Amino acid sequence: MDATFINLMRDPAGVPFFPVVFQGLYILTWALHAAFVLLAIGALGLSVYGSTKQKHDNNWKLFNPHLIMTGKLSVSMLILLGVAPLLFTQVIYDSGWYVANTLSGAWVFIFIYALLAGYMMFYWYSYANKKGTSSNTIIGLISFAILVFCGILMHNFAVESISPTKWMEWYAPNGVIDNSGLNFHIDIIRLAFMVSLTIPVTGIFMQNYSDFLSTRKDFSSEYLAFVKNLGTKLAVTGLLLSAVLFVVWMLKEGLLLHPAVLATIVSVVILLLAAKANKNSYITTAILVVVALFISGVRELIRYNIMSGLGYDLYGYPMNLEWETIIMFLLTFVILGFTGVAFILTMAWKVGKTKGVFDASKDVVVTRLANATLALFIIWTMVYFAWGIFALFKNTL
Ligand code: HEM
Repeated sequence: MDATFINLMRDPAGVPFFPVVFQGLYILTWALHAAFVLLAIGALGLSVYGSTKQKHDNNWKLFNPHLIMTGKLSVSMLILLGVAPLLFTQVIYDSGWYVANTLSGAWVFIFIYALLAGYMMFYWYSYANKKGTSSNTIIGLISFAILVFCGILMHNFAVESISPTKWMEWYAPNGVIDNSGLNFHIDIIRLAFMVSLTIPVTGIFMQNYSDFLSTRKDFSSEYLAFVKNLGTKLAVTGLLLSAVLFVVWMLKEGLLLHPAVLATIVSVVILLLAAKANKNSYITTAILVVVALFISGVRELIRYNIMSGLGYDLYGYPMNLEWETIIMFLLTFVILGFTGVAFILTMAWKVGKTKGVFDASKDVVVTRLANATLALFIIWTMVYFAWGIFALFKNTL
């Protein structure tokens, strides 16, 4: 098979900037998506276990609602941060993504409704847990199963989009077209590796949680030690398991000795040592960020190798430089985005560090950041519409 038809399926309008930049942004944003996927699933899964313990154990009684809240927020973050890699993959590997959506069209629909159902059940679980309903564990378990199922569907789309040599066989097995949209293909080792990462990510989060709250007088040191020790155990065992699965996956892909893969393994070992030493969890998290970027990079390496091996020239994607789009994107991303995120993070940090109610209006930094975000947002909206209307009339009149 050669990539003639894949190249023909590319967007004739081309891409608005150098493809390598989109590739880099894809790696970055998928790592962010994955971080929240892993935290959401891990926190929810652990809280289901905690919900069976909390009746008799005060540590779990305090920790479980916090885990549930973490998981709940992480689902919204993973959805938000899933959009970015989705856009980037559609820009540079559009043919792969659209073929996957055709082969598994029914699953794509099911994915949306499953995500809605799973997330709503998560809220139900949260309320049931607050009320102390006896069925809360089972509700949490169902929500967990549905959200894991969403991840398996996502994995199915990813596997299909990087398997061009199988597309014809899947689309028309034995020459008979299958338009059910129910194609389903998984790569068990790759999937197991992704799922296993939920354990260390949750463990490292727990170390962070404990360090963060250690400055608060209303949390006992015994409770914080309980969370931290459990987190360390999860981080260490989870990382060992993930490392083994990663090596098996890379052996299967024939990439074990690739420099990027070796660098990933080294970074995982450093992460393991940092998590085990448990000295400063913020540094451990910084190492985790590097590991996540490496893993995301290796995923992209696998796809790049497959596609370029068939003759799909990613870097030769027709380009139609559009400075207006790029300037607008960068201004939005850097100026509005960074200010807005700084505002939210600063406020969240201060809320968490305060005992009782945090009054943001009395905090100078938070107030300044809030005003700056609001002003920038108003300016951004005006520029966005003015620019859009100008472009529309320039092109049509
Ligand atoms: C509970 C919900 C979700 C879970 C558990 C989940 C999990 C995953 C997993 C495990 C992968 C990696 C698959 C692999 O490489 O084998 C993945 C990839 C991806 N996810 Fe999600 N995801 C969820 C929701 C979303 C949503 C709502 C979006 C978009 C808005 C999204 C966008 C993506 C994209 C673009 C990829 C990369 C696909 C590719 O490279 O071909 N995900 N997700």
